[in-house]
Amino acid sequence: MKAFVFGLLVGVLLLGGGVYYYFTSGMAPAAAGDPPLPYERRMASRSLDAHIEKANVPPSPLQTNEDNLLAGAKVYKEQCAVCHGLPNQPPPAVADNMYPHATLMFKDKGVTDDPPSVSYWKAANGIRLTGMPSFKGALTDTQLWQAALLVAHANELPDSVKKELTPAPPPPATTLTPAPAPVKTPPSKQK
Ligand code: HEC
Repeated sequence: MKAFVFGLLVGVLLLGGGVYYYFTSGMAPAAAGDPPLPYERRMASRSLDAHIEKANVPPSPLQTNEDNLLAGAKVYKEQCAVCHGLPNQPPPAVADNMYPHATLMFKDKGVTDDPPSVSYWKAANGIRLTGMPSFKGALTDTQLWQAALLVAHANELPDSVKKELTPAPPPPATTLTPAPAPVKTPPSKQK
């Protein structure tokens, strides 16, 4: 029995030491471009899903109507599009260069398979160890729900909302006008 406990202890210590060495020796992935650890994605997303389920977010207090989607589009364009992209536009440079990548909301199904309450939770609280910020202090609760409704319905938006999500055309090239010639003032006559 003693030998068994001793063996178990040595085993646990060796395993712990091995894991410690793996992380401290620089072998574990640390750069955004490194390949993920085996099961890293699955473990992280299971943990997040379980956490959100426990949070018991109520269903949206706002209706999915054109006004709310339009308001959501305005919030999204200002706060989210830098990372999550816009319809019919090339993905933003940052999206694919962060790990994990920022989900493109207007590509494939985006997050249209998640209920708005899940996206609301993510936008409000952010996602730990990813580039997803928490917007709780930056946006009002209404704005958070409007943005969540928008991404949940990204595949069935009314035309007015799609229009709101079109990037503004670049400002017209300003023609350089020569600076006005300095006005010559006659030297003031001094008495
Ligand atoms: C600085 C970049 C950045 C900004 C700005 C940003 N996000 Fe994110 N977002 C991310 C990243 C990175 C993830 C993580 C994706 C993952 O976990 O795989 C993410 C994840 C999400 C998810 C979950 C995606 C999924 O696939 O389940 C939602 C929903 C979301 N963001 C909504 C928003 C909303 C709404 C805004 C604006 C209010 C916003 N994000 C602004 C980077 C950003």
